[in-house]
Amino acid sequence: MVILKSLQEIEKMQKAGRIVAAVLEELRGLVRPGITTLYLDEHAEKIILAAGAKPAFKGYRGYPRTLCTSINNQVIHGIPSKDVTLRPGDILSIDVGAVMEGFYGDAAITVPVGKITAEAGRLIKVTEDALKIGIEKAVPGNRLFDISAAIQEHVEANGYAVVREFVGHGIGRSLHEDPQVPNFGERSKGPRLQAGMVLAIEPMVNMGGSATVVTEDNWTAVTADGSLSAHAEHTVAILEDGPLILTGQ
Ligand code: MF3
Ligand code: CO
Repeated sequence: MVILKSLQEIEKMQKAGRIVAAVLEELRGLVRPGITTLYLDEHAEKIILAAGAKPAFKGYRGYPRTLCTSINNQVIHGIPSKDVTLRPGDILSIDVGAVMEGFYGDAAITVPVGKITAEAGRLIKVTEDALKIGIEKAVPGNRLFDISAAIQEHVEANGYAVVREFVGHGIGRSLHEDPQVPNFGERSKGPRLQAGMVLAIEPMVNMGGSATVVTEDNWTAVTADGSLSAHAEHTVAILEDGPLILTGQ
């Protein structure tokens, strides 16, 4: 069941969203070779708590940390660790959620560590652009899979593959609500989009094939073929006059 949000509720969600955005911008500036992913995680948790919010992922189905930090061939849900040190040339996806006054915000970015290859940079750019293009379709009267198809078409036109085993989601008083928001699908299909829907749109893009495997920690998803993967996510409210990104500034 899709839960529509009032404008007042969307304003509350924007509070959570702005905290998430602030965390990601702060972390983007901290990322460099030699630091550990646990360092980033502890920093993120401090910012969230200082803002009067709570980390959304920590404790969710037993997830142990504030961030998901996924490097190179890791697609999503990499667990921050003191044993994982960033190296020059890595690409790092940072995914973070916060809950404030009962509402959730959820967003992700993929950032370069030191100097990366042109090809890795292009993967990140295509992923960010796919997210933007998908968000543009989040208008009342469109269908859900108009978002999905726009993302898929942009990714595949650039020679990459969208992940199918993980999808975006509705978000509100829960981190995951209906509907699921796939990054593939047919235009003009799926439920009608309405003002008051809030969606976490999150393309996961692989340089090689689309298949993924969950590793032995039961969280970290990696590409089956070992290829690089990037991730970008925003929490987006659908208003009468179009999309409002809640995890922007
Ligand atoms: N952005 C991811 C999602 O929406 C992060 C969830 S991590 C978890 O599914 F630990 F909370 F599951
Ligand atoms: Co999400």
